[in-house]
Amino acid sequence: MLQVEGVSRSFGKLVALHDVSLRVDAGSIAGVIGPNGAGKSTLFNLITGLGRPESGTIRFSGKRIDGRPTYWIACLGIARTFQNLRLFPHATALENILTGEHVRLRSNLLEDLVRTPGQRREEEQARARAFELLHLVGLRRAANVRAAALSYGDQRRLEIARALASRPRLLLLDEPAAGMNPVEKDGLAELVRTIHRTGMTVLLIEHDMRFVMGLCEHLTVLDYGERIADGVPQAVRENPRVIEAYLGSELPA
Ligand SMILES: Nc1ncnc2c1ncn2[C@@H]1O[C@H](COP(=O)(O)OP(=O)(O)OP(=O)(O)O)[C@@H](O)[C@H]1O
Ligand SMILES: [Mg+2]
Repeated sequence: MLQVEGVSRSFGKLVALHDVSLRVDAGSIAGVIGPNGAGKSTLFNLITGLGRPESGTIRFSGKRIDGRPTYWIACLGIARTFQNLRLFPHATALENILTGEHVRLRSNLLEDLVRTPGQRREEEQARARAFELLHLVGLRRAANVRAAALSYGDQRRLEIARALASRPRLLLLDEPAAGMNPVEKDGLAELVRTIHRTGMTVLLIEHDMRFVMGLCEHLTVLDYGERIADGVPQAVRENPRVIEAYLGSELPA
């Protein structure tokens, strides 16, 4: 479904990604791990059109997407969440999800002005779908609560619901479990599994090895912009380069 081939990206003298390749199979849950500054978020940015690679290609369902605009990539079927939440804090949970649906609402400016029956129907459908998504992420009762008033964990769940509102085929999650306690993390893993069961392909970035080990079928490890390992979680975990990269930090005993 997703094919990243030999992608490089620098910022001035800093090489954030160097010749990185990665494949995500349709219907899988895959993970990208690596220490701080490894280039993980940069990779997600390039996949979603926030910046273009200096070399290499990115394909989604066989189609070149590198260097394409973000909205175009979103319309093709890739949605993401951000490491630093990007919700509208003063808007309600429901309203935040409705902004995510706008990627696919068909009505045009003229229809916005005259509000045709077709547009009203589309809006009703969007609201119904938004409620479904709130239910899916366990926030049905918080529909009218302002995003800023939600707990941090719930805000992360809301961001996932908003990403799903554009009806993607591939969902990218940038550190969805960051700042969560172990109980919240278990709940999040369950949510990702539930979303996966609906047929979604998921690629997630995470620091917590325990979290990715239990969830992902395939892991890619980045360190200083280089891919240092790629494969099934158990093999990756035993890879000496991975152990070295994680030495004294997140790798659990
Ligand atoms: N827009 C930018 N301008 C300059 N440097 C950048 C930019 N984006 C990322 N970098 C640098 O590129 C490197 C990789 O950053 P990136 O955010 O991709 O790492 P990461 O693996 O997501 O790290 P973390 O785990 O801390 O989120 C870092 O050294 C970062 O400072
Ligand atoms: Mg990051």
